[in-house]
Amino acid sequence: MNDIEQNAMRKAGVFNAQLMDYIREYVKPGVTTEYINTLVDTYTRDHGHIPAPLHYGGFPKSCCISVNDVVCHGIPNDYVLQDGDIVNIDITSIVDGWHGDQSETFLIGQVSNKARDVAQCALDSLWSAIDALEPNCPIATIGKAIECEASQYNFSIVRELTGHGLGKNFHQEPTVTHYVTPQSEKAHISPGTCFTIEPMINTGSPDVIFDKNDGWTVRTKDGGLSAQFEHTILMTTNGPEVLTVTKQGPQRGHVF
Ligand code: MF3
Ligand code: CO
Ligand code: CO
Repeated sequence: MNDIEQNAMRKAGVFNAQLMDYIREYVKPGVTTEYINTLVDTYTRDHGHIPAPLHYGGFPKSCCISVNDVVCHGIPNDYVLQDGDIVNIDITSIVDGWHGDQSETFLIGQVSNKARDVAQCALDSLWSAIDALEPNCPIATIGKAIECEASQYNFSIVRELTGHGLGKNFHQEPTVTHYVTPQSEKAHISPGTCFTIEPMINTGSPDVIFDKNDGWTVRTKDGGLSAQFEHTILMTTNGPEVLTVTKQGPQRGHVF
């Protein structure tokens, strides 16, 4: 990406983070995931932008909301958030044709120790991967950092879904695996590359099941909890720049 394109990505990231901060106060017990979806859609359009998930590959809503054993791609519906839930909200905006993509796991009311731990592990995994990045480092740098973090908790890393390059497209090269592969040892991240890191961490088995009825919802096979955090990152000649930093959300080092 050239400088002009990088600035367009910065602008998309800033808006997306602002949207995440906007919905924050509404994510609480008693609220339906459909209501949060409506807030996301309305706020995005009121600011002249487009919610990327809507109609993407046929996805029916404007964001993904994934509760408890749902790993990702949960479809907002009439489910009412309850005390003890952990809920990932994944928001992607298109701003002047460029994408910003991020997610957070929210703890609803008082949650179990295990639920808190898996959210903590997912947040720490994301940030330890970001902190390990250097210009032209192998993609495997990311997987190594996340494997190290997950193993400290005895949690597992989902393998079927990855981070991704993004720009004018929602998903493009490179594929960003959250574990080490031979391919990720060979591929390097050059300055000017924009991509996401979005580790999905499971309390039990890493295996997932894709819902055959709705075509989207991904769940843990064993019914265990799953948590995820995501940021959009621009690699620069000076190192990684996180484009989707929120003002009010959990920052690097946050303890739940
Ligand atoms: N936001 C997801 C990601 O991080 C992708 C969602 S695709 C959708 O890559 F169609 F479900 F929106
Ligand atoms: Co996302
Ligand atoms: Co993404």
